[in-house]
Amino acid sequence: MIFPEYRARRLRQNETFRALVRETTISPANLVYPLFVMPGKGIREEVSSMPGVFRISVDQLAKEAKECMGLGVNSVLLFGLPEKKDSKGSGAHAKDGIIQRAIRELKNTAPALTVCTDVCLCEYTSHGHCGIIIDKVVDNDSTLEVLARIALSHAQAGADMVAPSDMMDGRVAEIRGILDENNFHMLPIMSYAVKYASAFYGPFRDAAECAPQHGDRKSYQMDPANVREALREATLDVEEGADILMVKPAMAYLDIISRLRDEFDLPIAAYQVSGEYAMIKAAAANGWLDGEKVMHESLLSIRRAGADIIITYFAKEMARLLNG
Ligand code: PBG
Ligand code: ZN
Repeated sequence: MIFPEYRARRLRQNETFRALVRETTISPANLVYPLFVMPGKGIREEVSSMPGVFRISVDQLAKEAKECMGLGVNSVLLFGLPEKKDSKGSGAHAKDGIIQRAIRELKNTAPALTVCTDVCLCEYTSHGHCGIIIDKVVDNDSTLEVLARIALSHAQAGADMVAPSDMMDGRVAEIRGILDENNFHMLPIMSYAVKYASAFYGPFRDAAECAPQHGDRKSYQMDPANVREALREATLDVEEGADILMVKPAMAYLDIISRLRDEFDLPIAAYQVSGEYAMIKAAAANGWLDGEKVMHESLLSIRRAGADIIITYFAKEMARLLNG
């Protein structure tokens, strides 16, 4: 393999050779599109820090579902903005809550679409934390029951998969338990197994109005400095019955995706979060980067690191590019 016998450029000569030896691909089927659902009618308002991303009312979901499926993006991840918030986040498991109505609407109008739901409390609590607060701290064990109720209410409304994002200890087991007791043993759990306390969630917190009103999320989300801890978190979730392990954010944590890919045999999902999307969009709007090429390259890097599934606000745009 010494020059000139081996010339690496031989197989880079033209696109046909390059395509023949390409190691990583992206398909619309790998992508999950996040949707923000809000109360009201006929609403479609753009999130200012996320150009091209809209908060929509329930009646707009059928149209959105049709567009996704037309592009080959067959899965969505739902986030809800409730009409009102309280200290216990009771809107999250209300039978007629925003997510429960959104799920029913999608199941009625687009039954073939796979509807995944974010299971958390922060959009529904007045204090904006992902759990129940007792004595000024987010109380782990009392939060578990509420999370389980939320997951069950999503399942009962017709969700195809639940995705707990709260980072409480033991929540996968608790959710698996209540789902099985209620005959939802076939409903998978995509666990936000490795979720860092990241500043890249900024635009999402505007979109979902869920920024913590006091303090931060560092007592439950992971320290960005840690990798061994990610393996422990993932191990626990596997033992508790997770079906898919998620890493979040994606681009600043490609090493974590790669480690999980090597150490575990479950499917890996990565969440390319709001801040990653916003950075690329902002640079493109200024003419500083080619937005389309950087979108493609960033998604490729996440797949190359080992993610099977990518949750991304670029899902429709990337699918359009792939479909030519
Ligand atoms: C709620 C939740 C967050 C995101 C997904 N679910 C925000 C947070 O934890 O503060 C972030 C998604 C994004 O930034 O795109 N627990
Ligand atoms: Zn939360």
